[in-house]
Amino acid sequence: MVPQLRAATLEDAPDLRRLADELGYPVTEDEMRSRLGELLPRGEHGLFVAQDAGGPLVGWVHVHIRRSALRAPEALLAALVVTSSHRGSGLGRELVLRAEEWTRQQGLSRIRLRSRQERTEAHRFYRRLGYLEEKRQVVFHRSLGGGEELKPSAGIPGPNSHQRD
Ligand SMILES: CC(C)(COP(=O)(O)OP(=O)(O)OC[C@H]1O[C@@H](n2cnc3c(N)ncnc32)[C@H](O)[C@@H]1OP(=O)(O)O)[C@@H](O)C(=O)NCCC(=O)NCCS
Repeated sequence: MVPQLRAATLEDAPDLRRLADELGYPVTEDEMRSRLGELLPRGEHGLFVAQDAGGPLVGWVHVHIRRSALRAPEALLAALVVTSSHRGSGLGRELVLRAEEWTRQQGLSRIRLRSRQERTEAHRFYRRLGYLEEKRQVVFHRSLGGGEELKPSAGIPGPNSHQRD
């Protein structure tokens, strides 16, 4: 059965929570639903899922526009995961191609991503798809208190975590 790609919806929150867990980002279903509720209506975010017919979601990609005074707008591949049972059959490539198609539809010609140094398998995958390593960086953060705390589950990786960046 070939999984079909489609835009994500709020109802996907339980499956996306599971896939986020596989990616190394443990979030609750409520957190996922609330974040999807903020992202999905925004035109500058593309969230696409792969689904086995009538079955669970087996892959997910999130791409969004990044704007800066220093660079031309570009797309950032923020999350990509294929569930372990479906890896190696071309689905990761399909999801990246969908993200690239979305990027072109936004009138942008460049897509960029960050991937943790330890994710050497993913690096081979990206190279295979034609992505070029550009640089290595040190990422800093400082908690300021209040609001949604930037803890590992919100995307700031600890030194020994297995999160995607
Ligand atoms: C990385 C990931 C999305 C790849 O998805 P996938 O469905 O397994 O990859 P595909 O089957 O589409 O592979 C596409 C190409 O990349 C190659 N490839 C995939 N994984 C590879 C690996 N570990 N080493 C070498 N080549 C690899 C495939 O052989 C294929 O090449 P070809 O068809 O040109 O011969 C998937 O392994 C995954 O979800 N990993 C865990 C989460 C993760 O690391 N996400 C990225 C975070 S930055």
